[in-house]
Amino acid sequence: MTLEEKIGQLQQISGDFFGDDGSSVTGPLSSYQISKKQLNNVGSVLGISGADNVIKIQKEYLTNNRLHIPLVFMADIIHGYKTIFPIPLALGASWNPELVKKVAAASAAEAAAAGIDVTFSPMADLVRDPRWGRVMESTGEDPYLNGMLAESFVDGYQGELPIDQTHVAATVKHFAAYGAPEAGREYNTVDMSEWRFREQYLPVYQKAVEAKALLVMTSFNILFGVPATGNNHLMRQILRKELGFSGVLISDWNAINEMIDHGVANDASQAAAKAIKAGTDIDMMSFAFLGSLEKLAATNVEIKRLIDESATRVLQLKETLGLFEDPYRGISAEKEAKVVLSKKHLDLAKKAAEESMVLLKNRQHILPVNSEKSIALIGAKADTGDLLGNWSWKGDVSTTQTIRAAMATHFSNLAFENGYSFDPSDNETDLKKKAIALAKKQDVIIYVAGLTASQSGEASSMTDIRLPKMQLDLLTELAKLRKPIVTIVITGRPLDLTVVDQLSDAVLLAWFPGTSGAAAITDILSGLVNPSGKLSMTFPRSVGQVPIYYNHYNTGRPVTTSPSDKDNIYLSKYIDSSNDPLYPFGFGLSYANFTLKGLKLSNKVFGAGETITASVNVKNDSKITGTTTLQWYIHDLTADVVRPIKELKHFQRIQLAAGSEKTAYFKISTQELSYIHSDLTRSSDEGFFNLLVGFSSETQLETTFLFKN
Ligand code: BGC
Repeated sequence: MTLEEKIGQLQQISGDFFGDDGSSVTGPLSSYQISKKQLNNVGSVLGISGADNVIKIQKEYLTNNRLHIPLVFMADIIHGYKTIFPIPLALGASWNPELVKKVAAASAAEAAAAGIDVTFSPMADLVRDPRWGRVMESTGEDPYLNGMLAESFVDGYQGELPIDQTHVAATVKHFAAYGAPEAGREYNTVDMSEWRFREQYLPVYQKAVEAKALLVMTSFNILFGVPATGNNHLMRQILRKELGFSGVLISDWNAINEMIDHGVANDASQAAAKAIKAGTDIDMMSFAFLGSLEKLAATNVEIKRLIDESATRVLQLKETLGLFEDPYRGISAEKEAKVVLSKKHLDLAKKAAEESMVLLKNRQHILPVNSEKSIALIGAKADTGDLLGNWSWKGDVSTTQTIRAAMATHFSNLAFENGYSFDPSDNETDLKKKAIALAKKQDVIIYVAGLTASQSGEASSMTDIRLPKMQLDLLTELAKLRKPIVTIVITGRPLDLTVVDQLSDAVLLAWFPGTSGAAAITDILSGLVNPSGKLSMTFPRSVGQVPIYYNHYNTGRPVTTSPSDKDNIYLSKYIDSSNDPLYPFGFGLSYANFTLKGLKLSNKVFGAGETITASVNVKNDSKITGTTTLQWYIHDLTADVVRPIKELKHFQRIQLAAGSEKTAYFKISTQELSYIHSDLTRSSDEGFFNLLVGFSSETQLETTFLFKN
């Protein structure tokens, strides 16, 4: 290969350069004037799909590329291709790694059939700030749960290596710590100690890398003062050396050039040199590699060698994808039509939606709703297909079943009013009046509130995380009628639901539930399905508590439940709000009622190389079958560095028939006790630990054990 050809492999461009107008654009388009010759050498493209389309572009490309090296097609398949599954944050609330793996496998099957070879997913960024719009793409705030689910995503997307024609390569993103921008503002500074990074953020990426994800994407932000895309320590030392990542490192969109704006490079050439030295293999859309590497290599042998290294990695990726044997990976329009939106995928989307919805409140068992009751279904959100959420590029909102249509199949006495609008020019008073008149006539009010898809995802940071004012005002009026109100919330991020909680008898968090979401909502409302989701991200009482997360450290002045703390102002607390969230991590109700008793340990003391087993009895104390997630947490009481007040270490989804019970176990080894010490190494040391267990992070039972070497 010539130097020019090798550099071509390192440049990624968007589909419009190949004349594809359906390609997705998620960043600034470049004004770079790419020559015909450069186009013929470019190694990868993003945002193109459709079997016929891909076949046409690949065919033409192969006739123009001297060595007939196939293009690799990449795209953001974040929660489904055409069958849209619940957003990742909702999938996190399923606490079901097997389900997530199936969702990823189905997404991969559709994407692969449509000609996509690589997905830019999973997003393994830990998130704790609902002001940041991209929390929807994460599975939540916990390193352990996120790590398990990141692994499931990778396994589901990739299947066994080498990748077969029904799977795609996974990209772990955004390396690293993109989920912690200051003030929740998109693309903002990330600044945390390396100790904290290694302790809480790195383990999630590590799990995905260990699952053999073939690509990693750099993040836009700085970390330890240097933009990730040019960060040697982060990429060469931590990612490549310590995590052992040997796959392709791709920059995020234009991230190489953005090093100029960050102020660490004078021009594209300096930015390109920093990026390739740090280990970035592919330049997504900044054209710094295409424009500068040849010149740089002419005088710098190190860069010449790095170009060889990176080009080899890109070619290896193409080989693992089987592109050299079949550049089309077996696609055809017929096959695509069969795989995409298949009954199997739609059923899986429904199951995923059912398992990810979280019942936040259910006063006096108002839910499920008896189908004989007359229902006032209120809320514009009930009459729209805008249930897919952001990053559902190929999902079709116009054909997505609405909540209104789905509910009409089950509830015969159902009348609807919009009540509010997303269009500020609509007459609010009129909409409100009609909704109230309807509500007065019916037995039960089902109020569907929420946000639009574009109110979460990339570039949608918010400072006010309440529902829109028009929606809250209407709920206030409806509550005055003193009729039972069930509020369904459609959202891509945790919201401040304090007022919603006060004014509603029941609250069902439906997230952006995807293509089959409306049917899942109906089945939960009617009781055909018993809700089982548990929050994987804390819901605050107000935006002022943010960032708020369950696994925080203790301070020297913690607030305890002791009555004397009430009058002590010199504690770590607010004067205008309690510290507790509205709904804690791990929380979610069921129509069934579960109880816990008899927490036991096989031994109170254990040593290196040994384990102890905890057991507890879980009972379904109700008259219906239900599923709950039992959560086990550990608190290291004294250590070299401060430890979180509790950390999730194990969980199990448990289905129990009415009145039945079962013993659940947790085997504890030194692995569960290890942490990052002040010298940045991970190990476990002697001492006392609390073991806590419950159905949310607000645990019910606890006991103590000793680890002694
Ligand atoms: C996003 C990435 C995405 C890429 C390509 C960027 O703006 O940050 O997550 O994969 O665009 O669409």
